[in-house]
Amino acid sequence: MSNKIKIRVDGRMREVTSPPDTPLLYVLTDELAVQGPRFGCGLAQCGSCSVLVDSSEIRSCVTPLSAVAAKSVTTLEGLPAWYAKQEKLAKAPALHPVQQAIIDEQAAQCGYCYNGMIIQAADLLSKNHQPSEAQIREAMNGHLCRCGTYPRMIKAIQRAAGVMQAARIDERNATGAPEVAQAAGEIETADVRLPQSSGMTR
Ligand code: FES
Ligand code: FES
Repeated sequence: MSNKIKIRVDGRMREVTSPPDTPLLYVLTDELAVQGPRFGCGLAQCGSCSVLVDSSEIRSCVTPLSAVAAKSVTTLEGLPAWYAKQEKLAKAPALHPVQQAIIDEQAAQCGYCYNGMIIQAADLLSKNHQPSEAQIREAMNGHLCRCGTYPRMIKAIQRAAGVMQAARIDERNATGAPEVAQAAGEIETADVRLPQSSGMTR
């Protein structure tokens, strides 16, 4: 009897042979050679291993393979295509807007946390197109950055939200649909101080 399990990873159906209780992180990195998710704590505490499962962020270090059988897993590598599908774009960009915004804001340092940061931010912006700063902080809480890039990460997410919203406005104008409310330049970026109780404070 075959003990292969099928999972869809970045749009591609894959058969894997790892035991069903193997953490998804190990299946992705060791069996499928996916390079986005990283091992940090192994305890669902840091967020460096995050992926999207059916478009919601999960910690792959504590998620058994059996839990994602027949589900759709999106890693950092598949994020631009996932974004294009979400936004109904004709073509996937080279980078998700959050990735581009991190470059534009010069937010990255060692980059170890950025897989999880980007996955979580993409999840947030797919569900809340215009998050407040407080909503960004709340969503990103639990993603730890040893380099302390939180203020620039918040700015990058705000920039990405603005870029995505402007693109939607352009699309709606092109198709004659009513405009949505807020354009890129109107996203607040001024106050990026960090709350003391948040994972975004470390
Ligand atoms: S390695 Fe999974 S949350 Fe830290
Ligand atoms: S940039 Fe180094 S851990 Fe976040």
